[in-house]
Amino acid sequence: MNNKPIGIFDSGVGGVTVLKELQKVLPNEDYVYIGDTASFPYGSKSKKTIIELCKKRIENLIDMEVKVIVIACGTATSQALEEMKKIFNIPIIGIIKPTVKYLKDKNYKDIGVIATTGTIRSNGWEENIRKNIPDARVQNKACPLLAPMAEEGWIDNEIAKLAVHEYIKDIKNIEALILGCTHYPLFKKIIEKELDSHVDIINTGEMVAEELKEFIYKNNLENKNNGKGSTKIFLTDLECNFINVAKKLMQKEIINIQKID
Ligand code: DGL
Repeated sequence: MNNKPIGIFDSGVGGVTVLKELQKVLPNEDYVYIGDTASFPYGSKSKKTIIELCKKRIENLIDMEVKVIVIACGTATSQALEEMKKIFNIPIIGIIKPTVKYLKDKNYKDIGVIATTGTIRSNGWEENIRKNIPDARVQNKACPLLAPMAEEGWIDNEIAKLAVHEYIKDIKNIEALILGCTHYPLFKKIIEKELDSHVDIINTGEMVAEELKEFIYKNNLENKNNGKGSTKIFLTDLECNFINVAKKLMQKEIINIQKID
């Protein structure tokens, strides 16, 4: 048993798609979420910068005495997870490994990946897929406009529909499409309309939630507080649209957001 909170971070509101899935499977846990809004977007930054930013956010979460950290960001997972595991002595879970495990279990071979420019450049998804499913055929597409549009709350207007169409129109004959950036589940309804109905559109948060649940139970780290866990949200810059988009996503008021330096 361990009543410390679970720490999560992303560059902005995208990680809330992961937080939502974690809360579904581990409702008794307390959560601390950091949205690094002052540094958004991560997707266009160099690996070196992403590593520096991740270090700071993980230090923030360690100061808040979390028991495990979830990097709820594809860009940070693909470019900094391995580095962070070397530096910090705390369990850290990213979004790639649990998702690739799911792809393997499903025996998918034709896989599409959409993600930020940094993630696609890092080749993090494709390398991991090929390691686990050597005969997989992977189609990658960087979608640099989608995360900024999600932060803006442009998730279901005409511009969002055109952008999604333009980005995924050349991805053909796939069994699964990985939403390799945690902002992209916000566009799921539009993405669904662009693809054949049999395509499995993968929200990585669901796989991360399963992995975290298994980790928590295996290591006897569950929060034994009776009742519903709490969630604290911190942003590195409050001048942003985070509250509005997070409210839409969580379908409830988001109160008590604090600034963190
Ligand atoms: N949500 C992030 C990801 O999963 C980052 C998007 C961004 O900051 O560019 O890649």
